[in-house]
Amino acid sequence: TMYWKINEHLQKSEHAMKEAAMLLNKQEVVAFPTETVYGLGANALSEEAVSKIFEAKGRPSDNPLIVHVADESEIENYVTEIPTVAKKLIRAFMPGPLTVILHSNGKIARNVTAGLDTVGVRIPDHPVALELLRTANLPLAAPSANVSGKPSPTKAEHVRHDLDGKVAGILDGGTTGVGLESTVIDCTAKIPIVLRPGGITIEQLQQVVGDVMVDPALIQAKDQPKAPGMKYNHYEPDAPLWLIQGDIDFFKEQINLVKEQGKKVGVMASKELVQLVEADLIKPCGSREDLKEVAVHLYDTLRAFKKADVDVILCEAFPTTGVGQAIMNRLEKAASRKIVQDS
Ligand code: TXA
Ligand code: MG
Repeated sequence: TMYWKINEHLQKSEHAMKEAAMLLNKQEVVAFPTETVYGLGANALSEEAVSKIFEAKGRPSDNPLIVHVADESEIENYVTEIPTVAKKLIRAFMPGPLTVILHSNGKIARNVTAGLDTVGVRIPDHPVALELLRTANLPLAAPSANVSGKPSPTKAEHVRHDLDGKVAGILDGGTTGVGLESTVIDCTAKIPIVLRPGGITIEQLQQVVGDVMVDPALIQAKDQPKAPGMKYNHYEPDAPLWLIQGDIDFFKEQINLVKEQGKKVGVMASKELVQLVEADLIKPCGSREDLKEVAVHLYDTLRAFKKADVDVILCEAFPTTGVGQAIMNRLEKAASRKIVQDS
């Protein structure tokens, strides 16, 4: 695996960019930073290249990938039409953490869309990602650059941990900004449907297009999610995670219950909560007053708990306002829906 360290200002990055772009044009896979999480990119026009993504990640082949392009004008090359709602969303939020699902015109490789007649497209808002897209001069299919089932990578070291030796190259551009993946919104129906909450909040979407629906599976756990990827185990840390819904006394009770069983307790919570509890390993992930900060640190904190150190991770439940909806969506998955509620 080739490894290039470059900075956000792209100083002295030319050589690394050229090498990475060349590998992509030889149908190899290269990991790169975006504003959300690191992506594992391959030529979206080549089935051979894309198959290497699925192989490296151990990703189920029925889970479609997002296509990344550098400019708005490229989107029309891969879809049958861009409905007005999608145009509005693209204008308002791209480049940025939003993926629009549109009808594919069949030019994107079949395994990118996992056989669906739709394709997800986004323009990443990161200088390294944009420069790589331009230099390679290809649309890049790119899922998060983690082994399937693990928390998404927000640092190049996470990518290295998961994929070293399994990919052709890793572009290290530092820590990603948003920390959570893009919001996925299906624009093929009259009223757009959010399939995955993410970096762009429902409130932001509503401001631009008014009516927005939310995939019922995101609210009611028993429904089968519409985004194929949402049904698999995801974001799972090394040790089992329990999501604790209740006040501070309830949280302390849960810690004690686990301790009484002779188990080692990890706590992942806001800096406000961690001050009030004792446990074997405590990791703050930001402030309750600033959910964007929690988003930035979420996956890195999840990855910091190892089963050698703790038997269970007790995690604070966050408010579902703004980016909190995406945070809780990821934590519910990280917990495999093990949610402990105060009654
Ligand atoms: O922020 C992001 O979106 C990151 C960075 C690397 O761009 N990428 C990412 O990709 O999170 P991935 O593969 O981990 O998640 C893609 C999600 C999955 O839930 C997948 O099922 C859904 O998007 N998706 C992709 N194409 C779709 C389609 N045509 N219809 C419905 N859902 C789709
Ligand atoms: Mg992923």
